[in-house]
Amino acid sequence: MYYHKIELKMRSLPTSTPGPSCSGSGIWVGDRKKKILQNWLHVLTGGFIAGLLCWGIIRTFESGLLSRLSIEADNKDSSTALHKKLAGSPIDIPGLFSETPDSGNGFYEKAGFKLHVNNSYRLRPQISDWDDQRRRWLSKNPHKKATTTGKSPLFLVSSSQPRPCENPMGDHFLLKAIKNKMDYCRLHGIDIFYNMAQLDPAMVSFWVKLPLVRAAMVAHPEAEWIWWMDSDALFTDMAFELPLDKYTNYNLVVHGWENLVFEKKSWVGLNMGVFLIRNCQWSLDLLDAWAAMGATGPLKIQIGKFLTSFLSERPENFEADDQGALIYLLNAEKERWRSKVYLESSYYLHGYWVKLVDKYEEMIRKYHPGYGDERWPFVTHFVGCELCSGETNAQYSAEKCRKNVERAFNLADDQILQIYGFHHQSLQSSDAFYI
Ligand SMILES: *[C@@H]1O[C@H](CO)[C@@H](O)[C@H](O)[C@H]1NC(C)=O
Repeated sequence: MYYHKIELKMRSLPTSTPGPSCSGSGIWVGDRKKKILQNWLHVLTGGFIAGLLCWGIIRTFESGLLSRLSIEADNKDSSTALHKKLAGSPIDIPGLFSETPDSGNGFYEKAGFKLHVNNSYRLRPQISDWDDQRRRWLSKNPHKKATTTGKSPLFLVSSSQPRPCENPMGDHFLLKAIKNKMDYCRLHGIDIFYNMAQLDPAMVSFWVKLPLVRAAMVAHPEAEWIWWMDSDALFTDMAFELPLDKYTNYNLVVHGWENLVFEKKSWVGLNMGVFLIRNCQWSLDLLDAWAAMGATGPLKIQIGKFLTSFLSERPENFEADDQGALIYLLNAEKERWRSKVYLESSYYLHGYWVKLVDKYEEMIRKYHPGYGDERWPFVTHFVGCELCSGETNAQYSAEKCRKNVERAFNLADDQILQIYGFHHQSLQSSDAFYI
């Protein structure tokens, strides 16, 4: 038998339980050694109240179980308009930067460049007092609190397209991927929501996760963390649990590296395929700022060009994507976001499949599930395989993708089957035998 049996233990609760609000404004340690970004980047914060829009809507959301939660939508336009100033940059992308001088900003006047984001787009419902609303809700529904019920503070969200996959094997793969997520969530007492509806016509492709994550936050005030996972990411370590204690002072946890994100400004310095975002106002604000860069429309193409010029290792002629936009925001509005973002690389919150799949047999010989790191990766993410759309990245053959998805699935499934007294003959085979 390959594996140590997974213990169905009680989840250990975080020792210090974060309250129903954004984590405190701790000082980012790296600030001390902060290098001033090459002079050419400067941010003018653009937060202002742009007039009273009568939202006045009371939105009611199902809150998972029996109770209902009233969302008091804002009656003001809490615009998080971002007016990025790029000073001294040699980059000149026609149409992207306004050359109209802006008063009151030295950097701007020197260079005269401005990145436009789509400020007419809004994620809904707009909320500005979510921490208060959530605190009130939790005090009225103490039986729903993770800390008092032993329920997981995590809520996992994933999604795939409403229509059948273009690739005939795609739907079969998605079925296996959702079974894999259900298995992990069942073992660890985590609620899961899988969405297949087009939620917001302006948020498509990579961007679908933004309205979905936001909807999950307001529908599930009992959840402390919303955990996004791409449909093409599989759990490969069914025993590993997220070290939530470590993230007490953070609101966003992404797999990534500080030097790649903040020094090299690499497009692959972090991966948005799997992330944790705290259920709080800070996160709603981040989603607003982020979504303004991804709304469908002409600006999305221009912002894409801008991101390619701003980031290294980003493809040319690639429309604005959520990953590039987040790396940009973290650099451009450091004071606002950086201290609350934890870039995780001590285990595979996201694991790039190409680097992992050939090591599975060696891992099985030497280790057992529970490490989550290179000894036994927590998640194997089939980036670039495009298994549903069938547009396999030229870098990988469809065959290599399919074969290794199957291997990753079986690696995880073996950890489930052995609970029931079975195991797979090999990672290549779906056949199982009595242990
Ligand atoms: C801004 O977003 C909206 C969708 O909400 C879209 O209709 C519009 O075309 C976008 N504007 C630009 C300039 O991209």
